[in-house]
Amino acid sequence: MRVLASPIDPVDLLVVAGHYPVLPAFQTVPGLEGVGRVEAVGEGVDPSWLDSLTLLPMRACPWATWAIIPQSKSLRLPGDLDPIQACMLRLNPPSALDLIAGLAPGSWLIQSPGAGAVGQCIIQLAKMHGLHTISLIRRESRRGRLEDLGADAVFHQDTKGLRRQVRALIGGAHLTRAIDGSGGPLVDRMASCLDPGGEVLCYGAASRQPAQLSVRNSVFNEISLRGYWLYRENATHPQAEAGRLSALAAEMQAQRLTLEVAGVFSLKDWPAAFALARSGERCGRVILQP
Ligand SMILES: NC(=O)c1ccc[n+]([C@@H]2O[C@H](COP(=O)([O-])OP(=O)(O)OC[C@H]3O[C@@H](n4cnc5c(N)ncnc54)[C@H](OP(=O)(O)O)[C@@H]3O)[C@@H](O)[C@H]2O)c1
Repeated sequence: MRVLASPIDPVDLLVVAGHYPVLPAFQTVPGLEGVGRVEAVGEGVDPSWLDSLTLLPMRACPWATWAIIPQSKSLRLPGDLDPIQACMLRLNPPSALDLIAGLAPGSWLIQSPGAGAVGQCIIQLAKMHGLHTISLIRRESRRGRLEDLGADAVFHQDTKGLRRQVRALIGGAHLTRAIDGSGGPLVDRMASCLDPGGEVLCYGAASRQPAQLSVRNSVFNEISLRGYWLYRENATHPQAEAGRLSALAAEMQAQRLTLEVAGVFSLKDWPAAFALARSGERCGRVILQP
């Protein structure tokens, strides 16, 4: 497969720094997800795969020019899908889908960080499923982007009286789920907005701080905290993965699901790409192209 594009995801930065629970055996070519075009097939492989736009399996060493992939682990994509968008299909859209799963149409959810890749997928997929979103942002400048995606409400993460404003917004409706990829004190801020007995679903810690949940929320309001990890989800339900990725690719093709791009760099420019990927001011994903 000729690799066409691959993002630098936060997990990639953790892996290359040696801070992720699943590390490849070194030496390795890094990267988690990516997309390519089939240029040659091996013996016994259906030749109709030739020239197909194909999603690489997880951890197929996509920061490279070429990849050799077992056909059984490849997923054929619509040929006219933009490779830059397609290369971001495998990680964040299915995570967002899992994080909103089980909420009935018409329900509200609160989430942080609203402007991250997962957060933006949550806003778009929640809208498709008839859910209402309340998103917290770290930078005020991100508000317009989230509103354009269909966010119902956007609050700065330091908003005073957040619980009061959230409860006024939803009227008498229930709010039972907070979705958190920020970690730190924001977990408790969102937990304070939930109905008693609600749940915080934690998928990350962009702040690099552990999730904080006060006694008031955990004991007196019986708010629980549950972790989510796509890696385990895929291992538990491997048969479901291809079907839902194809469904998400169709949403991408119809431009109902769009991921934000901060910049596209050639592999040779990887130092500049890494500098932008690590920057706290970037908007969207940094993409590598061989
Ligand atoms: N559990 C899983 O299966 C799973 C799946 C996907 C991702 N993740 C993890 O989830 C986290 C978010 O991923 P992502 O892809 O959405 O990230 P992303 O696209 O890189 O965006 C990071 C977001 O975090 C915000 N942020 C950065 N520093 C922060 C801080 N100190 N306090 C609060 N917010 C902060 C940023 O705010 P600005 O918008 O203002 O820059 C941005 O919105 C990462 O840790 C990632 O590894 C986990």
